[in-house]
Amino acid sequence: MVEVRLHGKDIKELNLAPYAEKARRVAEQIEARSGDGNDFLGWMDFASRQSEEELQDIIDTAKMIREKYDALVVCGIGGSYLGARAVIEALKGFFPDDDFEIVYLGNTLSADYTYQLLRHLEGKRYAINVISKSGTTTETAISFRLLKEQLLREFGKDYVREAVFATTDAKGGTLRKEVNKEGYKSFVIPGDIGGRFSVITPVGLLPIACAGIDIKEFMRGVKDGEKDYSSYDYALNPAYYYGLLRYLLNVEKHYTSEMFVAYDLHYKMIEEWLKQLFDESEGKNNQGTLCSSGIFTTDLHSMGQFIQQGSPVLYETILRVVNTNFDLEIPEDKDNLDDLNYLKGKKLSDINHVAYQATLKAHTEGHTPAIVVRVDKMNPYHLGNLMYFFFRACAFSAYMLEVNPFNQPGVEVYKVNMFKLLGKPGYEDK
Ligand code: PA5
Repeated sequence: MVEVRLHGKDIKELNLAPYAEKARRVAEQIEARSGDGNDFLGWMDFASRQSEEELQDIIDTAKMIREKYDALVVCGIGGSYLGARAVIEALKGFFPDDDFEIVYLGNTLSADYTYQLLRHLEGKRYAINVISKSGTTTETAISFRLLKEQLLREFGKDYVREAVFATTDAKGGTLRKEVNKEGYKSFVIPGDIGGRFSVITPVGLLPIACAGIDIKEFMRGVKDGEKDYSSYDYALNPAYYYGLLRYLLNVEKHYTSEMFVAYDLHYKMIEEWLKQLFDESEGKNNQGTLCSSGIFTTDLHSMGQFIQQGSPVLYETILRVVNTNFDLEIPEDKDNLDDLNYLKGKKLSDINHVAYQATLKAHTEGHTPAIVVRVDKMNPYHLGNLMYFFFRACAFSAYMLEVNPFNQPGVEVYKVNMFKLLGKPGYEDK
C-alpha cells in the first residue's frame, strides 16, 4: 500500500472537511458503478476476475516468444502501449541483463524514427505484438503494415502468420477481422476497460511478460490494490486522499498544472503513462489540471529555476521509491582533484535521497506544494499496486470534477481533420 503526504508552506490551510460529504458520495458512486461512463469500470475488479487460464496462456506465449525470437516489436499507441513500456522500463532499466530486445513502433508517424527502427530490425527474427482496441488507429495500422511487409519480404508468409500476436477487441474492428482471416494468435481487450486502464489486461501483460517480468506478482499487487484502495473514507484510502488533494489544489488553490516528479531516469515512462491517465480522463468541459513531468535531479538543471521562482501555477506529485534495486559507493581518490573526497564511502542512492530532501524543502518553502507518493521498492508487486492506486485516484478526482473519466471525445477532432486531409473514404464531407 502506498503512502501519501502533502507538503507546502501555505497549504496547511487546505481544509478537506467541507468536501467530505461529496467525497463520500463519489466513492459510493464508484463502488456502485453508477456514475457517467460506468460501463468502463471493468478494471476495478479485473485482477480478481481474470481466469488462471488466461494468465497462464500469456505466460506460456511470452516464454515461447522469448525462446523463438530475438526481439519483440510492441506496436500500439496511447493506452495500447504506454503502460507496458512504463512497467518494462521501470523494472528492467535501460540496459537490462537480457539478450531479448523489446522495441516500440505504432506510437508515431515520424518517418525518421520508423525508417531507422525498421532498418535496425532488418535480418532480425522478431515477433510483433500489435495492440489496438479499435483496430483502426492510423499510427498502429501503418506501422503494422510496414512491419509485416518487412517480415514477409525477409522470411515469407508462414513466418508472418506465426510471428504476429494481436491484442484487440473480442469481436469488432478491422484487426479482429484480420486475426480471423490470417489465424494469428490473439488476446482480448475487455470491452469494459478503456486504453489508459488496460495495462493490467493482456494489452500490458503480454509485452511485460515478454520482458521476463513476473506478471503473477504484478497482478497480485493489482489485486491487493482492490482492497487497499476501496474504503469510502478518504482518511483511510490513500487513493481517494490523493484524488481529493488534487481536486482541492486545482479548484480551491487554482493550481492549473501538476508536475509528476521521480528521481530515477527509468521512471520517465511511468510519468508519461500518468500524464495520459489524468489528462485524458479529466481534461473536459474546460476543466482539469494539465500534467507535466520531470526527472530530478536531471530537470532541476533545466526547469528548477521556473519551479522555484517562476509563475506559481504548479504543484508536484513526487514518486518516492525508498529502496533502489542497485547501488554504488563513491570511491576515495588520493589526489582529490575533483574535491569529492567529502563524499567518499557514501552510497549514490543516499546522495540522491539528500537531493530529494533538499529539493522538497526548497520548493515547498517556496511556492510549490508537493504531494509525496511513497513506495517501498520498485518491483512487479509494488508497481502493480501503485498503478491500481492511480486508477482509483484518477476515477475519483475526475468524478469530483463531475466529468466522465472514461471517454475522450476531444481526441477525435484531430483524427477527423487528418482523415479528411488524407482523403480517407467516408470523411470527404466531415
Ligand atoms: O486511452 C485511450 O483510450 C487511448 O489512448 C487509446 O488507447 C489509443 O488512442 C489507442 O487506441 P486503440 O487501442 O483503439 O488503437
